[in-house]
Amino acid sequence: MKQRKILVTSALPYANGDIHLGHIMEVTQTDIWVRFQKLQGHDCTYVCADDAHGTGIMLSAESQDMTAQKLINTIKQQHEQDFKDFSIDFDNFYTTHSEENKALSESIFLALKNNGHITQRKIKQLYDPEKKLFLADRYVTGTCPKCKSEDQYGDNCEVCGATYNPSELINPRSAISGATPIEKESEHFFFTLPAFSEMLIDWTRSGTLQNSVANKLNEWLQDGLRDWDISRDAPYFGFEIPGSPGKYFYVWLDATIGYMASFKNYCSRTDYDFDEYWRKNSDTDLYHFIGKDIINFHTLFWPAMLSSAGYRTPTAIFAHGFLTVNGTKMSKSRGTFINARTYLDHLDPEHLRYYLAAKLSSGIDDLDLNLEDFVQRVNSDLVGKVVNIASRCSGFISKGFEGKLSSELDSPEIIEEIQSHKDEIATLYDSRDYGKAIRIIMLLADKINQYINEKQPWVIGKDDKTSPELQKICSTGVNAFRLLIILLKPVLPATALKTEAFLNIPPLNWADANLLLKSHTINRFEPLVTRIEMESVQNMITETKKASGIEDESINGSKESATIRFEPQIEFDDFKKIDLRVAKITAAELVTGADKLLQLTLYLGSDGEGQPIYRTVLSGIKTAYKPKDLAGKLTVVVANLKPRKMKFGLSEGMILAAGPGGEDIWLIEPHDGASPGMRIT
Ligand code: MSP
Ligand code: ZN
Repeated sequence: MKQRKILVTSALPYANGDIHLGHIMEVTQTDIWVRFQKLQGHDCTYVCADDAHGTGIMLSAESQDMTAQKLINTIKQQHEQDFKDFSIDFDNFYTTHSEENKALSESIFLALKNNGHITQRKIKQLYDPEKKLFLADRYVTGTCPKCKSEDQYGDNCEVCGATYNPSELINPRSAISGATPIEKESEHFFFTLPAFSEMLIDWTRSGTLQNSVANKLNEWLQDGLRDWDISRDAPYFGFEIPGSPGKYFYVWLDATIGYMASFKNYCSRTDYDFDEYWRKNSDTDLYHFIGKDIINFHTLFWPAMLSSAGYRTPTAIFAHGFLTVNGTKMSKSRGTFINARTYLDHLDPEHLRYYLAAKLSSGIDDLDLNLEDFVQRVNSDLVGKVVNIASRCSGFISKGFEGKLSSELDSPEIIEEIQSHKDEIATLYDSRDYGKAIRIIMLLADKINQYINEKQPWVIGKDDKTSPELQKICSTGVNAFRLLIILLKPVLPATALKTEAFLNIPPLNWADANLLLKSHTINRFEPLVTRIEMESVQNMITETKKASGIEDESINGSKESATIRFEPQIEFDDFKKIDLRVAKITAAELVTGADKLLQLTLYLGSDGEGQPIYRTVLSGIKTAYKPKDLAGKLTVVVANLKPRKMKFGLSEGMILAAGPGGEDIWLIEPHDGASPGMRIT
């Protein structure tokens, strides 16, 4: 096999926040791939860095009363430690705030300029006159020009979904100082992206992108590309544009160049040759692992910039979906916005690596970390299946044979069966279909356990601790276990290391799966993977909530049973007085001035004369539901509640919902068969 030279990156995390499990999913996906390539004998280099520039970092440093430089240094150390503890094996982890990156960004910018790919023009933007700062869209809030919802961001309305310019907001405010922004003109630099339409069409067709990503790119190309604004005005934490005092490179320009800079820095202390990897027509490979939210930066601006500046373009972009926890977006109030460090304080990083691998695919679907499934799956697969093989067999080898494996195996067939899947599993790792690879490996583990069950070494060992047959059976088991660990090594580097010590062998490579351990002395077995206790998971959630200032609740969001207090008991006759009906929400609207209320129009079926019955109800569910998502839903209403006059109008009933509040309120939704007007009994 020809050795390939491969350069791999993960997206650069922002240097103003903690590493969370979403980031961990991305670097785990990348790390498994890199480790796999290295085990195959390829020359694979993995670089990353902190993304240290931008307004966010500048403001975050200010609010903590420190310099941006100090903030990014502190954060970088934490990030590096988090990644290291998850066994993420970067060859270099650098920062975009570096000399190398400054020099590369400047030279690439000048190349683009010389090629006529940079234009300058004046644009009008909102400006905070108090802070003396131009305001990016997300730093402006105000009332939506369309639906009049308050407190919406500068570019789109979370309530009605409208998109607009920040200058169209009613009553705009600077989110930084609260001041009313003014419109101000300033000169910006633009990269002429439309000049690269042809180039991008070719690049897309060269097998660089997953299908779904290529489709997205085609849409963008068909809609027509626009110039990309690559400059920002002072004050800004970043690199000043050469020859233009007070103008800075927009963070996303030097962020992608940060990949090159990190590699350049690596070259300065190794034998790697920067030009060999980055020159046009390089025969090395370049792969970027990224989340689906930053596809445009990597499939439009980045290849276009590289090609204008005379560098190679990426071999492929590998995009992935988002990590959700318990079926929904990671949320602070649910305690599922879990930081890497919080996880590490309670659980074993190998466990998460395994679970993520078992669920990862080559697509861009989101991946759910279901915490109960996580516990169950890790315990059953890693502890119950894989490690169980070693623990069942190695004891007999130690006791009866002084740790020595037999010279012949009892079942060469089962060993061959495992070996026969090696190439298929390699192909799956290479195409990032880790979930499929894991499934095959676990089926093999099942077969080996079944073999041991049939041979019942414990029965033989009871009569004769030194029976040659016993030695051969257990040596088959130990060899089978060793093969599984080779196949799992990209995913479980720490477990593989412990296994190598236990088996008394040098580090395993992929090709070692062709060899077997015969007449070899192994060490005494020590537990290689421990079980996860649900309690540790609970503790992690509790700590996550505490850190975000939210009281203790169980995983599914409802108060823990111990803390539930019921209302006093009532007579059945009292209960019968409540007329609960199925209702259909036909309209949902915002209530001007109310923070929590939505006005719902409910359809309750028709009366004796076939006339539809409607009720208007004010309901405190605005924090959890958007009006547009409610129309058409069935729910349950207390239909005979006396109309109540409230501050914001008359409410003719009450709908049923559960949950502690905020984002966590769930409407009671009857099954499909129910229809408006049906009584709940
Ligand atoms: N700094 C930019 C990337 C610059 S690359 C030249 C950035 N940083 S980030 O910290 O917001 O995200 C870093 C990576 O983590 C991105 O690829 C992003 O998609 C990924 N993820 C962030 N949250 C995620 C999940 N919940 N799930 C999976 N990946 C997620 O974007
Ligand atoms: Zn709106």
